[in-house]
Amino acid sequence: LAVRDEEDEAEAFAGKTKLTVFYGTQTGTAEGFAKALAEEIKARYEKAAVKVVDLDDYAMDDDQYEEKLKKETLAFFMVATYGDGEPTDNAARFYKWFTEENEREVWLQQLTYGFLAWIAKVLDEQLSEQGAKRLIPVGLGDDDQCIEDDFTAWRELLWPELDQLLRDEDDMNGASTPYTAAIPEYRVVIHDASVTSFEDKLSNLANGNTLFDIHHPCRVNVAVQKELHKPESDRSCIHLEFDISGTGIIYETGDHVGVYAENHDETVEEAGKLLGQPLDLLFYIHNDDEDGTPLGSSLPPPFPGPCTLRSALSSNADLLNPPRKAALIALAAHASEPSEAERLKFLSSPQGKEEYTQWVIASQRSLLENAVPLEKSSDCSWAPIFIRTSNFKLPSDPSIPIIMVGPGTGLAPFRGFLQERMALKEDGSQLGPALLFFGCRNRRMDFIYEDELNDFVEQGVISELIAAFSREGPQKEYVQHKMVDKAAQIWSIISQGGYLYVCGDAKGMARDVHRTLHTIVQEEGNLDSSKTESMVKKLQMDGRYLRDVW
Ligand code: 2AM
Repeated sequence: LAVRDEEDEAEAFAGKTKLTVFYGTQTGTAEGFAKALAEEIKARYEKAAVKVVDLDDYAMDDDQYEEKLKKETLAFFMVATYGDGEPTDNAARFYKWFTEENEREVWLQQLTYGFLAWIAKVLDEQLSEQGAKRLIPVGLGDDDQCIEDDFTAWRELLWPELDQLLRDEDDMNGASTPYTAAIPEYRVVIHDASVTSFEDKLSNLANGNTLFDIHHPCRVNVAVQKELHKPESDRSCIHLEFDISGTGIIYETGDHVGVYAENHDETVEEAGKLLGQPLDLLFYIHNDDEDGTPLGSSLPPPFPGPCTLRSALSSNADLLNPPRKAALIALAAHASEPSEAERLKFLSSPQGKEEYTQWVIASQRSLLENAVPLEKSSDCSWAPIFIRTSNFKLPSDPSIPIIMVGPGTGLAPFRGFLQERMALKEDGSQLGPALLFFGCRNRRMDFIYEDELNDFVEQGVISELIAAFSREGPQKEYVQHKMVDKAAQIWSIISQGGYLYVCGDAKGMARDVHRTLHTIVQEEGNLDSSKTESMVKKLQMDGRYLRDVW
């Protein structure tokens, strides 16, 4: 099959310049950008034979990566990161192979590339070190800002360079063709009730599948749902337990569970009304016409078969987040009222940037124009879930001392750690010391799992529970302030070969804790700043300073 694929490819690409757009994606943003970029390149350059490739699907094994990469001459990488600058699931294998087991010298001279990444620059640097030629500077997006604008700015740098590579001489004399983004176009087919919807097919399979992953979540029942904040609190933090018995799902302490959220019934009903269609309408969307000729978009439909409008709107439509500019452009193309089309175009244009930020993003406008979130409905009896493995693990020897830093919901993996330590203790293992730094606003409001944690202390599973309350006294008390108080103890644990774990908010807390760690190592260890730096680096490299942050 592989040989035939390659032959077909060679035929289709005859006389054209092959160009590959790779993506590493967790939630689909980078994948969407990769596909949009490919569409635009196709529309601009007749000469380009563009392929969009999931980094995981690119090669079966590492040798194949090498063999295939050697044949690439022009490639784009759209690579998101996950958590603490880690590669996404589908890029993890490539990333490890390309950056870690690297005994290759300069071997990619034939390759010219462009790179758009979310924070991490390692891959870009490696590509360049291994000989590949950077077409334009790496674009760095930030999800907390408007990532779509970063993408647009990066693309604008790209076209003049690609014009040089992909435009024929004749074209070069003329002005380059202006490009308008491809508006996704689909053919909608309405089915009658005799057709089985794909969700019914799935539920008939009754989770017969045991290989669950991000693309194949497992439908499981919610076994426990409870509020963790105390009644005095005006905020909410929900504890959920899923019943995975009989599903074949396995996980280890420290792994993540991904949960697919659905829109509330009220939201779905409102959207159905706005569309003027009944929710039990059974339909499918095709990206080609009856003869198989592709329509305006090569993006596959978001679900694998006929689907009810109710299910499409509850599981596949992002109805409550502020819409991206690409969505506004698509809406403008279909708006029947010209003034509304103009307004939508303006909001998605560079001139409308400020207004988009204020009117759409800051005021949390959604596709439903529903600026006020609906009351939360309490009925949530099941959810599609999947497991994401993680490196955030206890030391294999339970007698090794550990320090855990987890304010707010950062406590989550440590509950798992503590339950595991409890079980080990009951089995007769000798437990090493364990410090837990927890932080919240106020003991009376959001000291989550307080009783459970106190029990762990009593049982000797936690040797010391150190809590910081940020909104009780006149000054903010954070976990890192408490760490400074315990500097000598922390240094002693680290220098004895102990482990340090940090979980929670990346930009504020984890960054500040990281700085505090430097200070502690420097002062307690009497080290100069470069020795401190390399000691902390080494802790990280040895897997003794682990972070699970977002
Ligand atoms: P705050 O909201 O009162 O500022 C859990 O969210 C706890 O983390 C809260 O007590 C919160 O305090 C605190 N927090 C906020 N920013 C932090 C930071 N940069 N470092 C450590 N803790 C922080």
